[in-house]
Amino acid sequence: MKKIGFIGLGIMGSRMAANLQKTGYKLIIYNRTKAKGSFLLEKGAILGNSPKEVAQNCDIVITMLSTPEVVKEIATGKSGLLHGMKKDQLWINSSTVNPSFAKEMHQKSMEYQIRYIDAPVAGTKGPAESGELLFLTGGNHKDLEEASPLFDIMGKKTIHLGEIGKGAAMKMLINQLLGQSMVAFAEALTMGEAMGIQKEKLFNILLSSPVVAPVMSIIRPKLENDTYEAHFPLKWIQKDLHLSSISAYENGVATPNLNVTKEIFAQAKQHGLGDLDFSAIYKFLKHKK
Ligand SMILES: NC(=O)c1ccc[n+]([C@@H]2O[C@H](COP(=O)([O-])OP(=O)(O)OC[C@H]3O[C@@H](n4cnc5c(N)ncnc54)[C@H](OP(=O)(O)O)[C@@H]3O)[C@@H](O)[C@H]2O)c1
Repeated sequence: MKKIGFIGLGIMGSRMAANLQKTGYKLIIYNRTKAKGSFLLEKGAILGNSPKEVAQNCDIVITMLSTPEVVKEIATGKSGLLHGMKKDQLWINSSTVNPSFAKEMHQKSMEYQIRYIDAPVAGTKGPAESGELLFLTGGNHKDLEEASPLFDIMGKKTIHLGEIGKGAAMKMLINQLLGQSMVAFAEALTMGEAMGIQKEKLFNILLSSPVVAPVMSIIRPKLENDTYEAHFPLKWIQKDLHLSSISAYENGVATPNLNVTKEIFAQAKQHGLGDLDFSAIYKFLKHKK
């Protein structure tokens, strides 16, 4: 069985790595905050002291990191993974990044004769834990075939969208709509309550209407209980909307609605809500805190 190097053990990565380990894969792991990997070490994973050391000691590297800047540092920094990888080794980047950045990492990998594929995921903490993510991939068929047994463990479905960057592009569109839908729903709820409609009626009627995104039914308990433990941190949806905005610019497309939504999340982050779940935008719109 191939040895997997897993870098980035946050909300998503820790659960994805755990599923690979449960299935019998040997892991070598790296996370900036080491303690987050201790549950994997207890079950036999090996600790890499740097991304480079992880890459030197595995067959395939998977990264699940926060932002393009962090991916770049972990890949190309002084003890970055690209300095440890062997010729022809495979790097699967599951972090949500923008398509032009995915292409940049592919280009960089080629300089080191490394194979790169983009494989971001749709689905949050729950699907990551139950191995039911959706993988949106970009890259060549041979490389994706090599990665597909891993995708099948961490996810329920894999869709190949074409060349490098296309997986990232599709993922960005999904999160663009997620952010926009969240703000639209939170705004309607706030307004409905202000007009004196019972909250339960608002949920029941709006959520059974085709005009509301189905994902809002999953988010409902957070809004009802006013508890926002992060499944998907608000700071990361703001990051994703920012990446969408960059891509819109690069492709000559005007996206006014996207940019307004992005700035609403930016305001909430500025008010200290960045580490809460992105659904806390409701709390922000309602109370301005
Ligand atoms: N949560 C979701 O629902 C979800 C769903 C789909 C895709 N995603 C995407 O998946 C990626 C990971 O998300 P997540 O929710 O797992 O986030 P998270 O819990 O915040 O984890 C982020 C990871 O990046 C690492 N990191 C952050 N800054 C770093 C730095 N300066 N140097 C080194 N490592 C750093 C963190 O290390 P530390 O542990 O040391 O902070 C952690 O391993 C993001 O690209 C996100 O957009 C998230």
